[in-house]
Amino acid sequence: MVGIDIIGTGSYIPEFIADNEKFSNFLDTSDEWITTRTGIKERRIMTDKPNYYMGIKAAEKAIGDAKIDPKSIDLILVSSCSPDFFYPSMSCLVQKAVGADNAACFDVNSACTGFISALDIAQKYLLTNQYNTILIVATERLSNHLDYTDRSMCILFGDAAGAAVVKKSDKPYYSMLGASGDEFKALYCKVDYKANCPFHEDEMPFYNGLFDTESKKRYLQSDGHAVYKFAVNAMNNAVRKVMEMGGYTIDDIDLVIPHQANLRIIAKATDMLGIDNSKVYTNIQRFGNVSSACIPVALDELKREGRLRNGMKVCFVGFGAGLTYGAIIAEI
Ligand code: COA
Repeated sequence: MVGIDIIGTGSYIPEFIADNEKFSNFLDTSDEWITTRTGIKERRIMTDKPNYYMGIKAAEKAIGDAKIDPKSIDLILVSSCSPDFFYPSMSCLVQKAVGADNAACFDVNSACTGFISALDIAQKYLLTNQYNTILIVATERLSNHLDYTDRSMCILFGDAAGAAVVKKSDKPYYSMLGASGDEFKALYCKVDYKANCPFHEDEMPFYNGLFDTESKKRYLQSDGHAVYKFAVNAMNNAVRKVMEMGGYTIDDIDLVIPHQANLRIIAKATDMLGIDNSKVYTNIQRFGNVSSACIPVALDELKREGRLRNGMKVCFVGFGAGLTYGAIIAEI
């Protein structure tokens, strides 16, 4: 058994606060609707700096918290579904800024499941003994992907970054990752290549409809009901699967850090699992859905509040575009 030690965490939260009232100034919505349907009261928006800036700030804090020399980092994994560049990877920008000259770098994109995927990749790399210290960063600027005239979507998301430095431990670790590519149209944001594409969409039926470049199509598109239904079942099934792998019952789990997409999704899934509310951490009220940054931001808050104890069994669970899902139970 090779598990993980989380030796440092960090996060970056933009200063600009967009509370529900601000949305009701330009949309037919209200604080009451948003609060009761999603649990969100406010979210942060990065107004003046690129996404990688947030990732670098979170990474610097995690490295400081871990008290390590950046040159001892063997691998940097950045999770982002809202990168600033197609290439280079965001991890190379983080590497340059933090001075992790000896690190290999690549990015991971499983959308909101991204931190769970990256942590699981890190654990697998640690197993090889070739990589001993891994920096994981999840940084998301979803405000770039939002149509601020679409009241059902733009109120859900915010911007933030979280990071963690992990090393190998001999503590228990169980994980599962899954995907349902059939449902990719339930949640997507398309790259706008139409201008250069010489083919007609009829020649590429798989993409039917997606090449519509009407202004709104470049923004995040979602079938909220389909995602909601998928999310509740995926979270429930993923946690049950990892509990079974480790021979755990729900009472063995000390803390659940779920992806923060909707308070009702979290409540429904954790209710189905029979987990006591006091063991489920939420911060969606303050940040909205910050995609793959949700879990590491929560982890950093918990660490700074002294709520992570040695030997705790922590369950990370999430889902996202793809549609993807995953869960990890790690003794930390
Ligand atoms: N303010 C006021 N009314 C709104 C609104 C808003 N911000 N957004 C939607 N509405 C309206 C709808 O237009 C609809 O009106 P109608 O009945 O006149 O047609 C009504 O509220 C109910 O909409 P509905 O879509 O049924 O609400 P819901 O309870 O399902 O909540 C979501 C919608 C999007 C909040 C919910 O489906 C959800 O959270 N889905 C998951 C989305 C998600 O998290 N995606 C990312 C995952 S990583």
